[in-house]
Amino acid sequence: NKHIISISDLSRDELELIVATAHKLKREPQPELLRNKVVASCFFEASTRTRLSFETAVQRLGGSVIGFDTAGNTSLAQKGETLADSVKVISSYTDAFFMRHPKEGAARLASEFSAVPVINGGDGSNQHPTQTLLDLYTIYETQGTLEGLKVAFVGDLKYGRTVHSLAQALSLFNCEFYFISPDALSMPEYLCEELMDAGVKFTKVGTIEEVVAELDILYMTRVQKERFDPTEYQHMKSNYVLSASMLAEVKPTLKVLHPLPRVDEITNDVDSTQHAYYFEQAENGVYARQALLALVLSEQL
Ligand code: CP
Repeated sequence: NKHIISISDLSRDELELIVATAHKLKREPQPELLRNKVVASCFFEASTRTRLSFETAVQRLGGSVIGFDTAGNTSLAQKGETLADSVKVISSYTDAFFMRHPKEGAARLASEFSAVPVINGGDGSNQHPTQTLLDLYTIYETQGTLEGLKVAFVGDLKYGRTVHSLAQALSLFNCEFYFISPDALSMPEYLCEELMDAGVKFTKVGTIEEVVAELDILYMTRVQKERFDPTEYQHMKSNYVLSASMLAEVKPTLKVLHPLPRVDEITNDVDSTQHAYYFEQAENGVYARQALLALVLSEQL
C-alpha cells in the first residue's frame, strides 16, 4: 500500500509526475479511469474544498465514493468504536481511504489498520499533503517551473498545516523562503531545523512590504481559529492583511495563493488584480487529487 500521510512520503520525481499528470487531466478528462473503484471519504473535521474536490475527482474519473462528512452519526462517535476498528472495516469495503481528522497523527494511525492506501486530507496542525499537491500544480501552472522561486509564507505558520507540507515540498526545488508571522505563530522549530539541514535559504521577515517586490509566490494563510481558545484568537487574528495597494510594485508574474477559507487576511479588492489566483488554486484541487489517485491506485493514463 502506498499511504500518503506526509508530503515526505512522495519523492521529488513523484511530485513532478503528479504535477504533470494533473496538468494532463485538466486538459484531457479520463471519465473511465476509476471505473469500478470505490473510495472512502471520511471527514472527522470540517471541510469544504478538500472533501468536495476529492469526491468530484473520484466521480469525474468514473469511481464512486462512500463515507461521511462529519463523524457524528458513526458507530465511532455514538457507540465507542475505536478509530482502528472503524478503519479496518471501512477499508475492507474500498480501494482507497481518504480522511481528515483534528488530531495530529490520526492518519498515520489509520494507515496501520487499513487494508488499502490511506490518504491524509489534513491531520490537526501537522500535514495536509494533498493541499500541497494542488499548490505545487498551481505554482507550476502559473510560473512554468517549481525551481528556484522566491516564496513568502504569511500568517499562522505554527498551526498552518498547509504551510508545513508546502515548505517541505518546495525545499526539494531550490526555492528560497520568507516567513512572515507573529512571533507566537512562527514556523515550528523542527521544520526550521529540517530546512537548515537541507540547505534551504529562509529568512524571518517582519512585514509583507519588505519583500513583496522580490516574490514569485505570496502564500497567505488564515489564523487557525479552531486551534486556539477564543481570547487568544482575538489577539492573533488580523495581524497581516494583504490589500491591492500593497501589490503596486510587484513582479507582473507574482501570484497570491491561499489554501482558503480566508477570513480577513486578503481584502476583496485583491480578487480583481492579475495577481489573485486562489480560486483557480482551489479548482486545481480536483486535478491534483485525480493525479494522486491515479498514482496510488496504479492506474495507467
Ligand atoms: N484548503 C482546505 O483544506 O480547505 P477546506 O478546509 O475547506 O477543506
